[in-house]
Amino acid sequence: MKEEFAGANKYRILTYGCQMNVRDSEIISGLLEGMGYKESLSSADADLIVFNTCSVRHSAENKVYGKLGEIMGLKRKNPGLVIAFGGCMAQLPEVRQRLKKLGVDIVFGTHNIHQLPELIKEFYNSQKAVFNVWESEGPIVESLPSVRKSGVSAFINIMYGCNNFCAYCIVPYTRGRERSRCPEEIIGELRELRRDGFKEVTLLGQNVNSYGIGLENRVDFADLLQMACEVDGIERIRFTTSHPKDVSDKLITTMAQNRKICEHIHVALQAGSNQVLKRMNRHYTREHYLDLTRKMRERIPGLAITTDIIVGFPGETEDDFKETLDIVEKVRFDSAFTFMYSSRSGTRAAEFKDHLSIEDKKERLSILNSIQYRIATEINQSLEGSIQEVLVEGPSKTNEEKMTSRTRTNRIVIFSGSKDLIGQIINVRITEAKTFSLFGEIIQI
Ligand code: SAH
Ligand code: SF4
Ligand code: F3S
Repeated sequence: MKEEFAGANKYRILTYGCQMNVRDSEIISGLLEGMGYKESLSSADADLIVFNTCSVRHSAENKVYGKLGEIMGLKRKNPGLVIAFGGCMAQLPEVRQRLKKLGVDIVFGTHNIHQLPELIKEFYNSQKAVFNVWESEGPIVESLPSVRKSGVSAFINIMYGCNNFCAYCIVPYTRGRERSRCPEEIIGELRELRRDGFKEVTLLGQNVNSYGIGLENRVDFADLLQMACEVDGIERIRFTTSHPKDVSDKLITTMAQNRKICEHIHVALQAGSNQVLKRMNRHYTREHYLDLTRKMRERIPGLAITTDIIVGFPGETEDDFKETLDIVEKVRFDSAFTFMYSSRSGTRAAEFKDHLSIEDKKERLSILNSIQYRIATEINQSLEGSIQEVLVEGPSKTNEEKMTSRTRTNRIVIFSGSKDLIGQIINVRITEAKTFSLFGEIIQI
């Protein structure tokens, strides 16, 4: 290894997008620290800046390009600064062309993160740009080092990629086909997490309910959850994301029977109209979604249901949109991520002819949000005075004097308390409710 890696160099990772990227950035940190790099919290101070990017919507890409422009400015002042670019955007050929023109030093993809140390060395040795992106996935690489930031709650991949090809979505193109990790590897990692003091884990996959397909010994997602519940010391188990077409009765039973599995499920609705769902290639109907959520609420008392919704999908009529509003009123989501449809080239929907204007999409988003925010506030207010079990995560981002914690239903609760409580599960009484968070007081340590 060259001398310049011997501990003197500093790196910074800029992470965009979903939990998959957050987890990948932890692995990138592990790989870089293995080379002797130390983390820097300021870009001005860093010798290597790594972009870990998202291409799910046009706005996500724009954010990255904006920041890249700023960092290229830094590089002009400090030519020794090395810029590496990875994540979902790097998988797209048109993005790579632009990166070449912009003078980015190293480009790697979602399938070859493990090669980053080699690519960095290759760049230093050749002093020429190194672009190395695998077009499709290779075998799963296990046992990569990683640096997890929180000592309390951890993300853990159970599968990679997606086979669903929803008509609007770029993810199957940037993350490849679905592959599941062996249960032994996952349970081994959970045991390590427990040894490192983590209390809570979130199992990650684009569609966790199809976990296990293609494994030698058939283990499905409910079996995996059951196995995870048997790891002593891991007290709370979460998972994301669930596809409504694949949530099985066995999963609902497993959730209902295991206290360790939190009463929260994220099941992406996307749209409330059967016509739109069909054109999105989602393979379920609004009736199925309503039945499923009703059944889950019956069998899992106190279950929080959260979702993703897209407005303004090509061809969405006023009546289709009203069906989305109707289902939002009927299900009463605890919270929802809502998006304006964004055309992604290469996806099926990008070829559809009947795209909506930006004004129409904005108007629909604002109507949907006002309804959803009202519902979320009402549900949160109904919790005022109740006692909630929370896991304390750390100082609040908005008020360092307070602590932030999470209920089993994934609500944030801010309260006054000491740092000694970090990592503990305690009870709080809810004193005030807002749309996106709750405030509380400790009632018992
Ligand atoms: N695998 C997850 C979703 C990953 S992408 C799932 O199926 O639940 C996260 C969310 O981004 C999606 O659920 C969808 O609501 C939104 N999204 C994806 N592509 C989009 C696009 N082209 N325009 C707008 N929103 C999009
Ligand atoms: Fe995208 Fe659909 Fe796969 Fe989710 S399930 S990642 S929305 S293609
Ligand atoms: Fe974005 Fe890739 Fe995640 S496109 S949402 S970072 S899988």
